[in-house]
Amino acid sequence: MMKIWLVGMHGIVASTAITGAKAIERGLVDKTGLVSELEPFKDIERYVPFSFEFGGHEIRLLDGTAYDAALYHWKELHHFNGEILDGVKEDLEKIKAQKGTALNCGSGIEEFGEISTLEQDGLTLREIVERILDDLRKFKDDNTVVINVASTEPVAKYSEEYHGSLEGFERMIDENRREYVTASMLYAYAALKLGIPYGNFTPSAGSSIPALKELSLKNNVPHAGNDGKTGETLVKTTLAPMFSYRNLRILGWMSYNILGDYDGMVLNHQDNKESKVISKDSTLEKVLGYSPYTITDIKFFPSLYDNKIAFDFIHFQGFLGRKMKMHFIWDGIDAILAAPLVLDIARFLLFAKKKGIKGVVKEMAFFFKSPMETDVINTHRQYEQLISWFQQNL
Ligand SMILES: NC(=O)c1ccc[n+]([C@@H]2O[C@H](COP(=O)([O-])OP(=O)(O)OC[C@H]3O[C@@H](n4cnc5c(N)ncnc54)[C@H](O)[C@@H]3O)[C@@H](O)[C@H]2O)c1
Repeated sequence: MMKIWLVGMHGIVASTAITGAKAIERGLVDKTGLVSELEPFKDIERYVPFSFEFGGHEIRLLDGTAYDAALYHWKELHHFNGEILDGVKEDLEKIKAQKGTALNCGSGIEEFGEISTLEQDGLTLREIVERILDDLRKFKDDNTVVINVASTEPVAKYSEEYHGSLEGFERMIDENRREYVTASMLYAYAALKLGIPYGNFTPSAGSSIPALKELSLKNNVPHAGNDGKTGETLVKTTLAPMFSYRNLRILGWMSYNILGDYDGMVLNHQDNKESKVISKDSTLEKVLGYSPYTITDIKFFPSLYDNKIAFDFIHFQGFLGRKMKMHFIWDGIDAILAAPLVLDIARFLLFAKKKGIKGVVKEMAFFFKSPMETDVINTHRQYEQLISWFQQNL
């Protein structure tokens, strides 16, 4: 059995991942949506069988269980058959989150209203880190992975002194320089410190700073991120290569996204939104090798809840200078697209650990909008890369 620790355990992505995993284990639903269940990866079952235990950190609804959180989201969205939730109620009621930190998580999380964090208890940075480490130590075994599915943080201000090396990062903790750290860095630090693989499903900094990359290499731990590629960016990075293959020049690409729920509410705050827009916007240049004119925006649309609708307009030029247009509308349910990837990322990271792979697993770029340490953004190439990495390491 593998153990997944979810940072942001009461969010809709986390709740849906937990519900889905337990529903599959109980034979209530099939495995559609899981990449790790595709034919090229069938041998993963030998290393990471489909069986999960969950825990996590949260800053909300800490009196409730994973079932309460799942029920809350389900009542808003009805994003799957309610009988599935009834079928896993007993499993989810056993899962309780621990109190986390929300240091420098931006104004977006104020939307949650009542939150409960370790810093509110007056702890120093060192004490906060020790609490997170303790929670993980109590949960972990050799088959544990941490995945960050907490709200998107503002872009972290980079400090060479404190982020540039592991020594600097640990000095920052000891000197209580909390203005230089974000919660996602602390969770990533704790995971890597304990030798637990870490996946960052969000655009937040997580393990992407040099100090934590150094820690992952020192402790022989694999990690991957950033920002799950689930919707409009998935389509964009799959479609854009088609224009390249046919030597059609993209002149401009507008992507206008509207979404509801907490993710949308948090992303409606300029500081929190900036991380996401950078993450989405940088993809085209990397796929095409040049920068067309782009407009990328994300706006809160409360009644949609977890439906994310993207309106895309592509202006492109062909033979004899002729300009042409393409439009598409992506109408997805975010959590349904994201949840299986959370399980996939956790499984591939545990596989990597079992194979002695350390540092950034860039071959897992397929799962991310802003993959670390690679410029391979084309979804087709990423998929081939994932298959050959997996098969070579079997
Ligand atoms: N849904 C998708 O398709 C998708 C795709 C890519 C990335 N993401 C990212 O995944 C994350 C989760 O998305 P969601 O739709 O589940 O959002 P959500 O708002 O439903 O859930 C986020 C959860 O994180 C908790 N949280 C916030 N800050 C925290 C902290 N510092 N420590 C612990 N818990 C914290 C919140 O209380 C909330 O329960 C977001 O950052 C989102 O941008 C989602």
